[in-house]
Amino acid sequence: MNAYSICLLPGDGIGPEVIAQTAAVLKALPIEWHFETGLIGFGAYQATGTPLPEETLEKISRLDAALFGAVMTPPHLAGYVSPILRLRQGLDLYANVRPCRSFAHPTSRPGVNLVIVRENTEDLYTGAERVEDGGRRAVAERIITRRASERIVRKAFHIAQQGHFRKVTVVHKANVLRETCGLFRQVAFEVAREFPTIHLDEMLVDTCAMELVRAPEQFEVLVTTNLFGDILSDEASMLVGGLGVAASANLGDRMAVFEPVHGSAPGLAGLGQANPLAAILSAVLMLEYLGETGLAGRLYRAVEACIANNEVTADLGGSLSTTQVTQSIITSLNHGLG
Ligand code: IPM
Ligand code: MG
Repeated sequence: MNAYSICLLPGDGIGPEVIAQTAAVLKALPIEWHFETGLIGFGAYQATGTPLPEETLEKISRLDAALFGAVMTPPHLAGYVSPILRLRQGLDLYANVRPCRSFAHPTSRPGVNLVIVRENTEDLYTGAERVEDGGRRAVAERIITRRASERIVRKAFHIAQQGHFRKVTVVHKANVLRETCGLFRQVAFEVAREFPTIHLDEMLVDTCAMELVRAPEQFEVLVTTNLFGDILSDEASMLVGGLGVAASANLGDRMAVFEPVHGSAPGLAGLGQANPLAAILSAVLMLEYLGETGLAGRLYRAVEACIANNEVTADLGGSLSTTQVTQSIITSLNHGLG
């Protein structure tokens, strides 16, 4: 049996519930797990004075991978930076990978199988904002570098190769943002030459937003800058059931944090109704990252079966509780493994 040490980062709101359920599902697999828990989020801030204690960073760096739940970020607390953004930038987790695949369920459109590969360290996310002219003018700096663009586009092509996709679409707005998007686009076409068997297509971000609704089956791998990827991935999640099933991986060269795309949903916290599938599907991505592709496939199929049988929470029109969904998955895993 292979053994892995995982840093669990439950966070705030429904984060602790979905992470506990995901850990329970992982324990049903033939792997020896060593879980350590790291403090993160507003609760951590209240307890320790910082939303991302050094000790948490140290654990993530030392262990094989991390599984993040959700954090609550108060908008009006001066100087407070979302700890997930600090994690992504501080640990150089430069690729945010968000797959989106159809399920056999009424909330899902058929024929969707796409992956959004989102740059995760720069763009309008660097916090380079300032107020000028006595508050009458607010300025945000958009940073796009050749280095970050190259590595994210290369990552998108590698993901295309691994997933047997034939096309990568670079999504930009270079007709208006001529320098920043212009650089990203230019680099994409340069990097594409390293991958002659995969076609590079391009699309303006507004067109892409429309095409995702009109004909999502045309897309394979999309690669884009940070903010566009943020917006398009929420949109794309609605093609296949919404944020309750949207999983993501934050990948660096030596570290990775897996994360459901949904937030902390404080109104749902403690009610036992949160959908654990986005976190469980993030654990599928973690298993793939760890090289456990066979078990990743088994867990994915168990999730597919659970959704196909409508054994789902209210956000997907079902009536199951968080733990009932987990139990259904564990039961189907045990069948598959037995
Ligand atoms: C996401 C979220 C985050 C982002 C927020 C919570 C900072 O929307 O992971 O998509 O904007 O990246
Ligand atoms: Mg988002």
